[in-house]
Amino acid sequence: MVHKSIGKEVCSRHKHFSLLGKEIYYYRELTSTNSIARQMAISGATDGSVVMSRSQSSGHGRMQRQWHCPPGKGLLLSMILRPQISVQFVPQLTLLTAVVVAETIKIVTGCAAGIKWPNDIFINGKKVCGILAESNFSKSNFEYVIIGLGINVNLETIHLPSDCQETSTSLSIELGQNVSRFKLLKQFIISWDEHFQGFVRAGHPYLRNKWIKNNVTLGRNVTVNKGNYSIHGSAEDVSEKGGLIVRLSDGSLQEFLAEDVSIRRRF
Ligand code: BTN
Repeated sequence: MVHKSIGKEVCSRHKHFSLLGKEIYYYRELTSTNSIARQMAISGATDGSVVMSRSQSSGHGRMQRQWHCPPGKGLLLSMILRPQISVQFVPQLTLLTAVVVAETIKIVTGCAAGIKWPNDIFINGKKVCGILAESNFSKSNFEYVIIGLGINVNLETIHLPSDCQETSTSLSIELGQNVSRFKLLKQFIISWDEHFQGFVRAGHPYLRNKWIKNNVTLGRNVTVNKGNYSIHGSAEDVSEKGGLIVRLSDGSLQEFLAEDVSIRRRF
């Protein structure tokens, strides 16, 4: 099957197959799985469809950052969702995805993966996965949410951008052997279905409980980057809006929704 162009996006041939009830569109190369997934969502792709690629020429993350991964070394995927939940709960889908990815990594590799709020997965203090949720709203309804994730699977340190070599890692670096991307994909779908159903059934208490079990953020001293100044405090909880609740030095609590947060090192 060939998609010569989807809207403005041009990409290569793709394979289409079904896996555990999800439609998977696998490309050798494209601009960004999130961008192609967005075009497919606009064209009417079904809820739960997954766009994957061996490589991306313009992979992107939060805060206009780029996402680099050598061909075939990472799990690069975006899922199209059309969930029947109200707009204010959409940020919680990022937290839910983080729970699913942390659990997927633990089940497939045994590595102790933990969530750094809101959208990073860490192993041994280094980032192994980033998550980017993008949605389209019309008034109070939203039409779709794209959940994109990039897991560093079989990269060596030399494959990581030089400014990330100290702060990022991969599953193969942590494990000392390569990991099957297909196994990760399968487990991601299994865990997604389990936790998404739990979230729809029981809402924030379900998500908060799973998130707390899998996080490496709460109880830690954090720095919230506000652009030209920073705020320091201790991370205490996650809110119903998917925000991070931080206790500041004057004892007050403040909620942060979309800021860049770093965990301060223990000395
Ligand atoms: C972040 O750490 O800021 C999020 C990074 C998300 C990267 C993934 S790779 C697959 C998907 N396609 C993209 O362009 N971005 C996400």
